[in-house]
Amino acid sequence: MTLPAIGIPVITIDGPSASGKGTVAERVAVALGFHFLDSGALYRLTALSALKHGVVLDDEIRIAELAATLPARFHDGGVWLADENVTDAIRTETVGEGASKVAALPAVRAALLDRQRAYRLPPGLVADGRDMGTVVFADAVAKVFLTASAEARAERRYKQLIEKGNSASLSGLVADMRARDARDTARSVAPLKPAPDALLLDTTCMDIESAVQAVLSHYRSKQ
Ligand code: DC
Repeated sequence: MTLPAIGIPVITIDGPSASGKGTVAERVAVALGFHFLDSGALYRLTALSALKHGVVLDDEIRIAELAATLPARFHDGGVWLADENVTDAIRTETVGEGASKVAALPAVRAALLDRQRAYRLPPGLVADGRDMGTVVFADAVAKVFLTASAEARAERRYKQLIEKGNSASLSGLVADMRARDARDTARSVAPLKPAPDALLLDTTCMDIESAVQAVLSHYRSKQ
């Protein structure tokens, strides 16, 4: 088990799918010169790896083995699984669905715990996910729970898909968003919920820049 990296500040940004937490977290990390952990990418990589190896998504033992030995690399803004650039492959709806399923398996979460904590390096870390403030970095200096209505989040996802030339149904996306929220919130291990000491930030009517500034001023107020 990794010892807590005492003294290295961590800012956690948790929240549901498409709440904008990834973009906000990345910009906060750039503004502070901190490292950035997209923990959802590790669950997505685990699901992709299971799909590639033909492992069914409820085979907890085999998937935990894959998670523990993931040849994952993040560099140049891309995500790699061994020598394969999987930046786009991990963002498909199929892999997102799979990630939500494997993320409900306790052994998989345990297998990814030390790997996530290893990203806590000087001068600091901004980590985004579902359980960053409640489990993985429970001692974080500043915690934020970013949310937005399911409709607003579905609309953002819809725009992204259309911009990339994909077809999409808004009502289908609202339904998917609700189903994924329900699964992430209802699971017994590390469910999606705000840490008791988290700042709640509802971005339904807020642009990205305002959300970034709100997180930065929350962090400064904790220093
Ligand atoms: O943030 P995302 O959409 O890339 O996450 C993909 C899935 O992984 C999502 O369904 C929830 C799960 N996840 C999790 O359980 N814990 C995290 N810290 C990050 C993601």
